[in-house]
Amino acid sequence: MEAKTPSASIAILTDLVLPSETNPLNNLFGGELLARMDRAASISAGRHSRRIVVTASVNHVVFSKAIPLGSVVTVEAKVSRAFRSSMEVYIDVWVEDRQSGDKTKANEAIYTFVAVNETGNPVVVPPIKPETKLEKQRFDAALRRKQLSLVLAGKMKPDDATELKALFM
Ligand SMILES: CC(C)(COP(=O)(O)OP(=O)(O)OC[C@H]1O[C@@H](n2cnc3c(N)ncnc32)[C@H](O)[C@@H]1OP(=O)(O)O)[C@@H](O)C(=O)NCCC(=O)NCCS
Repeated sequence: MEAKTPSASIAILTDLVLPSETNPLNNLFGGELLARMDRAASISAGRHSRRIVVTASVNHVVFSKAIPLGSVVTVEAKVSRAFRSSMEVYIDVWVEDRQSGDKTKANEAIYTFVAVNETGNPVVVPPIKPETKLEKQRFDAALRRKQLSLVLAGKMKPDDATELKALFM
């Protein structure tokens, strides 16, 4: 299968924060942001694989900045690495300043999607060829993150997580 670039899988969702999507502090509710990120990441994984994709795991989420009511929020998702049937999707979340239009990074997250056929069985996806420095960094670290996710899910023995263990040696 021919390799594809991360930018070929880019998915960008821009939307407002409405009153029904906020917590008692009038900031965006975490679960709403998780859902927006899941949607963008699903579109991205689908663009890369051109298959049905399902969320296999949410590997990492950082809610580093609260996002106030009325904000314009942009969720940008790109496949950072593809394995056999699974894809790591990296998501960056930006908040736009109403007056200047400048965008500030608010959050980021990493999801794993698996491409499946009509009966839900995993199918092979094209590899990823990273281009930019950031894409290469994310690509290189993705194998360690996959191993950590599999160890935490009880699907891999810690002893077999060679690249992950190398971080601590
Ligand atoms: C995701 C799913 C298809 C995996 O099926 P499975 O029987 O575990 O299949 P496999 O063991 O062959 O794993 C398939 C791929 O997923 C990866 N994977 C499975 N669980 C994972 C996890 N927790 N973290 C990271 N990768 C995972 C495997 O490493 C494998 O990757 P590879 O083919 O690229 O090497 C299956 O568990 C499923 O359908 N889950 C429900 C998905 C869903 O409904 N999501 C919506 C959430 S409500």
